[in-house]
Amino acid sequence: MRRKTMLAAFTVILGAQLLIVKVSQGHGDVTPQSVDVTGLDKLGEEFLAENPYRAMGGEQYELAIEIGASGYNQNCARCHGLEAISGGIAPDVRLLEDGELGDEWFMERVRNGYSQNGAYKMPPFEELLSQEAMWAIRSYTETRPKPE
Ligand code: HEC
Repeated sequence: MRRKTMLAAFTVILGAQLLIVKVSQGHGDVTPQSVDVTGLDKLGEEFLAENPYRAMGGEQYELAIEIGASGYNQNCARCHGLEAISGGIAPDVRLLEDGELGDEWFMERVRNGYSQNGAYKMPPFEELLSQEAMWAIRSYTETRPKPE
């Protein structure tokens, strides 16, 4: 092969690879990120019915909100919107009920995800996030101001 042709071929291959990287980054199936819950009280194996950090209040709740903000941005924002403001792809999580009713629905969805016609519209996070991380994310979303 002549040099020019090789160079051209190389450029095409490189371009194609860059394109693949771009496409996969833009796609919804980003690998979920584990959430560092250092400092939060451990909750054990059994899933609780109500957000324990809200009940604890004070520093635990504040830390939960902080950890939850980054956990949310890494795992949920691409569908539910930055800062929990929905762009319309998925429901606005600020509209969940306050208190235990909202907690229950939140956990049901986050643990099991949601599938329609055999395809996940929302992945299940049961195996990906700890219970502590889930309640931290709930703490963050429940303290975002509700839309008008
Ligand atoms: C791939 C997109 C996607 C990701 C990522 C995602 N969700 Fe969802 N989520 C959805 C869709 C779509 C629904 C609507 C399901 C339905 O119709 O009930 C939903 C529903 C929910 C609901 C129920 C809302 C309601 O009003 O009924 C909650 C709570 C929720 N998601 C929380 C989360 C949290 C927390 C995360 C991150 C840990 C997350 N979701 C990640 C797509 C996503």
